[in-house]
Amino acid sequence: MTIDATVTLIETEKELLEIVPLKQADDSEAIGKPISAGNGLDKIMRLNGPSYNFWIVRVNGAPVGYAVGKRDGERYKGEGVYVTPEQRGIGIGPLALQRQVDYAKAHGFIEFWSVVSGENRHSIKMLQKLGFKFEPSGQGYEVRLKLQEEILI
Ligand SMILES: CC(C)(COP(=O)(O)OP(=O)(O)OC[C@H]1O[C@@H](n2cnc3c(N)ncnc32)[C@H](O)[C@@H]1OP(=O)(O)O)[C@@H](O)C(=O)NCCC(=O)NCCS
Repeated sequence: MTIDATVTLIETEKELLEIVPLKQADDSEAIGKPISAGNGLDKIMRLNGPSYNFWIVRVNGAPVGYAVGKRDGERYKGEGVYVTPEQRGIGIGPLALQRQVDYAKAHGFIEFWSVVSGENRHSIKMLQKLGFKFEPSGQGYEVRLKLQEEILI
């Protein structure tokens, strides 16, 4: 099945503001109680430094998800992918994550890594689909994907 979704690297403040309601919904879901739009905006603005990248996912032009990542030395760290509940289970999350991985690879990072809670089975499935290696860490796993082939001499 082809997914009718676009994933775009955010380059303008206008696009960044479009992900505020998604951040608000994401954090509300994660902590199990609503947070305000102002809180969502604060969190995005706090993250919006030079080492961070944001992606927005759209279906028919409407924002349905976002992804965040950051430079971490030679590695690139996935800081999260979120898809609105109505659009889950059709491959949008893996599409956004793959776009982050492609970006990190194209920019010469040696590894893409992230952490996932052991309870987040949907996210674990998404990471497995993309071939991440899992290592137990804390309450979940540290996950890694090698990006550059080693040159054997
Ligand atoms: C994790 C997440 C990004 C996955 O995105 P997605 O677009 O649903 O990903 P997929 O379509 O590959 O589905 C992943 C798994 O979710 C489950 N799923 C299927 N339908 C679903 C639905 N309607 N609602 C929720 N989960 C569903 C399935 O187990 C699926 O695996 P399968 O395709 O092998 O059956 C999404 O569930 C999400 O936004 N969760 C809340 C935020 C979060 O936990 N983010 C990750 C940590 S930062």
